[in-house]
Amino acid sequence: MNNQAILEGATSLTPPSIAFSNLENKCMSVTKHIMTSIRWYFNSGKWNPSAADWVRAAQRVQPEEKDRIGKFVFKKDAKSSMIGRLMLRRMLHRLTKIPYADIRLARTEKGKPYLTNELPPDLVGLSFNVSHHGDLVVLAGELACDVGIDVMKLETPVGAQTVQDFFHTMRRQFTAEEWACIRQGTDDREQLNTFYRLWCLKESYVKTLGVGDRL
Ligand SMILES: CC(C)(COP(=O)(O)OP(=O)(O)OC[C@H]1O[C@@H](n2cnc3c(N)ncnc32)[C@H](O)[C@@H]1OP(=O)(O)O)[C@@H](O)C(=O)NCCC(=O)NCCS
Repeated sequence: MNNQAILEGATSLTPPSIAFSNLENKCMSVTKHIMTSIRWYFNSGKWNPSAADWVRAAQRVQPEEKDRIGKFVFKKDAKSSMIGRLMLRRMLHRLTKIPYADIRLARTEKGKPYLTNELPPDLVGLSFNVSHHGDLVVLAGELACDVGIDVMKLETPVGAQTVQDFFHTMRRQFTAEEWACIRQGTDDREQLNTFYRLWCLKESYVKTLGVGDRL
């Protein structure tokens, strides 16, 4: 979806093949099984809301979400979280035709958002999830299965001197087979790419289940 449309409501659903094609320097995984899929991404780095835009955005989310977003220390995090909420509401509005103001999202005990409105029979089972990292906010929606999504920017995290130091710190996060797969990369960048791809796969699975515990 294009950046202007998040507030204007003017874009169409983006097929996955298009949505994923521009994800240079990013790693994203989605766990899904079949069928009607919605995949949107939004470049938060290109959205610089004016004070009026921000007020307008805040009016479109539920009061408890507005309060939660208002507590972020970093503006960037607040923006990503706001965008995620707006994307969710937009997808739900488009699919269900429920007026924006009537869409009611709640969270499970572990934090996964879900819709509390009654759905028409053809949309029962609708599952969705968002993720944000770096300049990307991504959303996945599925009709016939549960879905989770995760996105990570390909970078050596702050605090790690080198990619190999970073891997050492993270050594317990993957099995020996998974590390062998990561180490097949011919240089640091390739290895980091595989690392994040596996990471996103695991996270998206965890998010599909809606749990927050380590696998
Ligand atoms: C809960 C968890 C999955 C969230 O992931 P994250 O990387 O911090 O954040 P993401 O940007 O991917 O996703 C955040 C969004 O997911 C949704 N979310 C929150 N909790 C969730 C949960 N338990 N399940 C699914 N979705 C959740 C929310 O929409 C949230 O956005 P918001 O807070 O702005 O509303 C994560 O904190 C966690 O506990 N991971 C398990 C760790 C693990 O085992 N990793 C395996 C890799 S080796």
